[in-house]
Amino acid sequence: MPENNLSPASISAALKTHLIGQNIIYYPSLTSTNTMAKQEAQRGAVEGTVVIADEQTAGRGRKERVWLSPKGGIALSIIVRPNLSYLPSLVMVASLAVARCIEDIADLKPQIKWPNDVLINGKKVCGILIENDIRGERVDYAIIGIGINVNIRVVDFPEIRPIATSLSDELGREISRVKVVQNLLTHLDELYLSLKAGGSVYEEWRDNLATLGRNVTVKIGESTFEGIAEAVARDGSLLLRLSDGSLTKVVAGDVTLRH
Ligand code: BTN
Repeated sequence: MPENNLSPASISAALKTHLIGQNIIYYPSLTSTNTMAKQEAQRGAVEGTVVIADEQTAGRGRKERVWLSPKGGIALSIIVRPNLSYLPSLVMVASLAVARCIEDIADLKPQIKWPNDVLINGKKVCGILIENDIRGERVDYAIIGIGINVNIRVVDFPEIRPIATSLSDELGREISRVKVVQNLLTHLDELYLSLKAGGSVYEEWRDNLATLGRNVTVKIGESTFEGIAEAVARDGSLLLRLSDGSLTKVVAGDVTLRH
């Protein structure tokens, strides 16, 4: 059985990041790491601060949805203070870091479903919620919230069973959550610092998308569109070719891959 202590001391041991995870705030149980990270950011927490919990009692997903966060999973939020110009790239940084981490640690082949769900064999293993506080042209802070189903038996959770998977379900064994967190923070550190230094994460993100070239249904508010996911733009938006031949740009929406 892998060790299961997510305390700052166990994560910090052997963590070689420069920015992300230099300050770690741990809770055995918390409503939502994103909510707590916002409060910490407002209180002036340094960039790179990580809020992590063994379980969340009110985990939040995109579009006001609930995110189930039982013990055995990973729920963490990172405080960053980016320039406005690279705010759209945070979804790419976060989803790529998770995909790289899963390849490294579990030797599985994850794919990213636009914009930032991470899938294994077509099922969701990770969700990402980014929340910003923008004042005029300045980003006061952005919170990158990441939830990964690590050692969870998805069969025990009927509400997510049809669409979700976990690393332990895919591997048939449990893995060390500390190693997953350390590896994830290392990739986040590298990708985020490269972005800040003027590098691009767009190409690698685009090349890892499961969505491109696929027939998709996109739900935007109450409207639904069907078409082919033709491309993604550098600002992260999806270019959807509709059946009448027109191309529409989708900035935010829920994508379902059609078979
Ligand atoms: C989604 O797919 O809808 C996004 C899910 C994001 C869940 C993570 S878990 C850590 C952080 N805290 C939250 O309350 N939500 C995010």
